Amino acid sequence: MNDFLKLACERYSVRQYSNKPIEDEKLEKILKAGQVAPTAANRQPQRVFVIKSEESLEKLRFFTPFCYNAPIVLMMCYDRNVSGKAIDGHDSGIVDATIALTHMMLEAYDLGIGSVWVRGYDSRILERIFNLPENLVSVALLPIGYPSQNSKPIQLHYNNISIEDMVTYL
Ligand SMILES: Cc1cc2nc3c(=O)[nH]c(=O)nc-3n(C[C@H](O)[C@H](O)[C@H](O)COP(=O)(O)O)c2cc1C
Repeated sequence: MNDFLKLACERYSVRQYSNKPIEDEKLEKILKAGQVAPTAANRQPQRVFVIKSEESLEKLRFFTPFCYNAPIVLMMCYDRNVSGKAIDGHDSGIVDATIALTHMMLEAYDLGIGSVWVRGYDSRILERIFNLPENLVSVALLPIGYPSQNSKPIQLHYNNISIEDMVTYL
């Protein structure tokens, strides 16, 4: 197994975090991984809010239980005035933002920092809580932090679709 595949297989959703703060240099590397992600026509519509003040984290915890006790939550959005539009009208914003956030999730894991994708909430309320301008569309939250000593994958992590069910050769 090469290094990237090992990282992709080992990564799991972390839902229990330690008190250890994330170092600024590591946060910068995580953000860098989002900056260099591929986007449609290189329009780069991804916009990231780093939620780390106690006041903002408190708002989030009131809104959703899924940020757990993470010290930082990344809110990924895209700018609908910037995102690429395909010939059939398809807006690439969600795809672009998803790729960027996945880059960030994997860079975090490589640095020993856990995370979990979160989309189990009403995005209309989230956008109102943080007064997002009309052109910004929220896509997902990514709580990040060092895993607590007790953190381990839940059973869902091990339920992988078979390659046969996933792949069709044409
Ligand atoms: C789009 C998306 C939305 C998700 N939303 C939530 C969520 O709201 N709360 C949560 O605890 N986990 C959430 N997850 C995490 C998944 O449950 C998890 O990735 C999946 O069960 C596989 O487990 P693993 O990440 O540990 O491999 C989400 C994952 C994705 C990709």
